[in-house]
Amino acid sequence: MDRVLITGGNGFIGSHLAERLEELGHSVTLFDVHFNGNTTSLRGPKIRGDIRDYPVVKDAVAGHDAVFHLAAVSRVAWGQMDPYTCWTTNQLGTLNVLEACRKSESRPLLFYASSREVYGEPQYLPVDENHPKKPLSVYGMTKLCAERACGSYSDPSLSPAVNPVIFRFSNVYGSERDLPERVIPKFMTKALHGEDITLYGGDQVLDFTYIDDTLSGILKAFAASFDGGSGVPGQEFHFVTGRGVSVSDLATMIVGLTGSSSRIIQSPPNNFEVRRFVGDPGKSPSRHGSSGRTVLVGRPADRPREVPLRGKGKILGSRHQLRHVLRR
Ligand SMILES: NC(=O)c1ccc[n+]([C@@H]2O[C@H](COP(=O)([O-])OP(=O)(O)OC[C@H]3O[C@@H](n4cnc5c(N)ncnc54)[C@H](O)[C@@H]3O)[C@@H](O)[C@H]2O)c1
Repeated sequence: MDRVLITGGNGFIGSHLAERLEELGHSVTLFDVHFNGNTTSLRGPKIRGDIRDYPVVKDAVAGHDAVFHLAAVSRVAWGQMDPYTCWTTNQLGTLNVLEACRKSESRPLLFYASSREVYGEPQYLPVDENHPKKPLSVYGMTKLCAERACGSYSDPSLSPAVNPVIFRFSNVYGSERDLPERVIPKFMTKALHGEDITLYGGDQVLDFTYIDDTLSGILKAFAASFDGGSGVPGQEFHFVTGRGVSVSDLATMIVGLTGSSSRIIQSPPNNFEVRRFVGDPGKSPSRHGSSGRTVLVGRPADRPREVPLRGKGKILGSRHQLRHVLRR
């Protein structure tokens, strides 16, 4: 059994990860600025604290074997609205975690939650982990700088060095705990209420990844890190499906599946948003078998399908449970 700390542990990914780790028998401590119903079923300690507060972070990290650092201003739009909070939380917060790991006698393994936003607008598709990093948004820049801080703490001349594993997540979906402002929950809510769905440049293509696939990738990397390492510490992995879905097709699919009367309205794109991202899952599956088990499907019937569908889509839950599951 390992003693695991999850920063941002009350959030969408962190709370699901904590459940899975507890099921596997690990002892899980959560760290977050606030706690709600997401984590009431979890047994481990909950530390209420701010990731920007080094002494608090240092105490929280002490005694753990692994730290998953997920606490962040976690949306591109929020970074544009409040860059200072985004920078201090994502950059200083990560620095605090790195320094606390370096100082901790328990020498925890660190897993950092970055984002596909670090790549910016792709120069080629599908994007692999070595793609140039030119983020467009404040959020993407904070994530890239935090990655660089992780890299600098891996320097062997630091004694001791921290050798973090970097995960780059890509539009994770599939739970009522997701932020209501994110694209799938937002479209679902609008569709269920019959409200207009506005697309800010509907030709945007994204690689949506299902929460269970993301978690299985994280857990495989975690297990491999403790199993003699297999080269995982110090590595970077993105969790992607390798399939792009346009936001406009997504909206049409959700309206169709909910039988909604919502209209889909076109609006100009934002200049800080990546227009087209499809990731290359080659590295992750070969090492961890993590990606692409679940894909968003359900293209409008009048369009050619690139992917043969072997299952059928279903929506679980009510207006308050925006779990959108479409399985291959
Ligand atoms: N969900 C995605 O599609 C996605 C994609 C790419 C990257 N990520 C990254 O993965 C991580 C988890 O994402 P998520 O979807 O669970 O986000 P989330 O917003 O649900 O969770 C983030 C958590 O961090 C906490 N937090 C924010 N500021 C804090 C602070 N100052 N101190 C302590 N805690 C603080 C929040 O309260 C929240 O519980 C984030 O770092 C995010 O940037 C997520």
